[in-house]
Amino acid sequence: MMSVQDEAKKAAGRKVIEEFIRDGMKLGLGSGTTSHFFVRELGNHVACGMKLTCTTTSRSTNDVAREVGIAITDPNDMGEIDLTIDGPDEIDHDFNMIKGGGACLLWEKIVAHASKRMITICDESKIVAKLGAFPLPVEVVQFAWKQTERMVAQALADNRVKGAAIERRMRDGQPVVTDSGNFILDCRCGVIPAPAKLEIELNRIPGVVENGLFTRESRGMVVGRFDGTAYVKL
Ligand code: 5RP
Repeated sequence: MMSVQDEAKKAAGRKVIEEFIRDGMKLGLGSGTTSHFFVRELGNHVACGMKLTCTTTSRSTNDVAREVGIAITDPNDMGEIDLTIDGPDEIDHDFNMIKGGGACLLWEKIVAHASKRMITICDESKIVAKLGAFPLPVEVVQFAWKQTERMVAQALADNRVKGAAIERRMRDGQPVVTDSGNFILDCRCGVIPAPAKLEIELNRIPGVVENGLFTRESRGMVVGRFDGTAYVKL
């Protein structure tokens, strides 16, 4: 049986298709469970004849899209993407987000920036007053990653994030390696006082490839409620 949270994610996916997706569009498909519900729903529309050109933000979303009959175009062949739909780990009322819980933040940010517009889909549990309870993922190159970790700790302290604990992400006793071959450092921040500034400053560190703060991308959100309804906030 599906949980109420899954029902809410599904409702957000249905609503975003109804409100924002039109025949002929070029779409970026996000990653994570919410995006995967949306991609499965989109597959039904494609099966009924909707024509779309789609690219994805992770290998896992490629697999889901192919499974439901959505052809995937190489991002290099997309030109400007009309719209990217993706999910957050946290989103505040100004559409600032933490992403990367699924380790896909780099491809997600590239595809979001290659798009005219990004709309976020989520269930209501993802909305927060201030970002930071969810650990902030920072993608770093494998070379000298402990040196990069020290510089990340300094950047957090310089940005008034007090006493952040940083851990390299592990799964089954092995470090997680992203689709681009990098490590993820999860930073337990508590509260992030100035997300836009921190996003820029983390990316100035040489070993940092990208971080999970998305402060300039999303232009709106479609939120699924636990009662199975959904609403749009622009
Ligand atoms: C992956 C992501 C996901 O979009 C984010 O983790 C949300 O996932 P879910 O919908 O499963 O909660 O950023 O890197």
